[in-house]
Amino acid sequence: MYVAQPIEWTDHGVVMLDQRRLPAEEITRTYTDYREVAKAVREMVIRGAPAIGVAAAMGVALGVQKSPATTVEALTKEFPEICDTLAKTRPTAVDLFWALERMRRRFDELLRSNADLNTIRQAIIAEAREVHLEKKATDEAIGHFGAEFMPKEGQVMTQCNAGALATAGIGTALGVIRVAFEQGRKLHVLVPETRPYLQGARLTAWELHRGGIPLTLITDNMVGHFLKSGKVAAIVTGADRIAANGDAANKIGTYQIAVLAKENNVPFYIAAPISTLDLSIPDGEHIPIEERSAEEVTHIQGVRIAPDVPAAHPAFDVTPNRYIRAIFTERGVAEAPYTESLRRLAASSVERSAISGQPEDPERAGPRKP
Ligand code: MRU
Repeated sequence: MYVAQPIEWTDHGVVMLDQRRLPAEEITRTYTDYREVAKAVREMVIRGAPAIGVAAAMGVALGVQKSPATTVEALTKEFPEICDTLAKTRPTAVDLFWALERMRRRFDELLRSNADLNTIRQAIIAEAREVHLEKKATDEAIGHFGAEFMPKEGQVMTQCNAGALATAGIGTALGVIRVAFEQGRKLHVLVPETRPYLQGARLTAWELHRGGIPLTLITDNMVGHFLKSGKVAAIVTGADRIAANGDAANKIGTYQIAVLAKENNVPFYIAAPISTLDLSIPDGEHIPIEERSAEEVTHIQGVRIAPDVPAAHPAFDVTPNRYIRAIFTERGVAEAPYTESLRRLAASSVERSAISGQPEDPERAGPRKP
């Protein structure tokens, strides 16, 4: 099945599929400067929490590879600036900070082992490529855990785009749907268009269509109507940051879908890698919400659709944990109480995670569906 490739490390630089141009055009851009990568993240050439993390890791690798430094000391001085530039792009997606922290740790390790400049350059590039590879494996595992919760046949709903474009793997929420579909479940996906940036209409519809998965595109204000019909078996979305208690930030509009899901007895699930957990914050009140330009609300693809009036654009909202039936991760499935189940998953070993797709110890991985 077709899997979009939003980002790739190549000998010529970091190549990104320009998601701003989808679905009309499939254009790639090649970046050779970490500042350009930061700009591409800010301007949504690449978006989606895990994919932003991969872009940040590759941005650091590019910064180290292309640095004019001729000594390890000079590179060490420049390194924080590279990381800070990439950090100041999108505040909500914690995968960005997770990836930067990982690259920092690897850099420090190399310094401690007295590696020379060339060794550091190669090792940092290898680390960024490893981050990308791991995303592919974690998505597969999330998909297998989550697929069990999908109906054998029926309609499911998602929000925004949590597919391959958003993760650089097979996707989190769409990964679950994809694996379930490949297992033979006859799913039909309801795709809210996801105003104002239209990730649902432009990206999810494109990915599902290319992958041969049946879908129906709906406008955001149709969500309640469809959930009330009794014909939606489950909702699965991604997340940009999940607090210790399970409160989850995701694309604006997710909260109202989750509330309507509860009202209509439709299970609402989140699919996200462990790197999306932020156990340093107790609850969703502490999640920084990115405020994007009002122009993305007053205009659609450059065309003004509203008079010249003030417009608000919080890019994410927070769904309180009480609306979330379960969280699918690569290490297993978390259910309430999330403070305990997420902590257990975060602390559990990596070996038993993605690769087999099965938790080594279901008890430790949190409760699973019977
Ligand atoms: O603003 P975006 O397009 O980066 O927002 C993306 C989302 O909200 C996704 O649902 C989230 O990052 C999860 S991606 C697997």
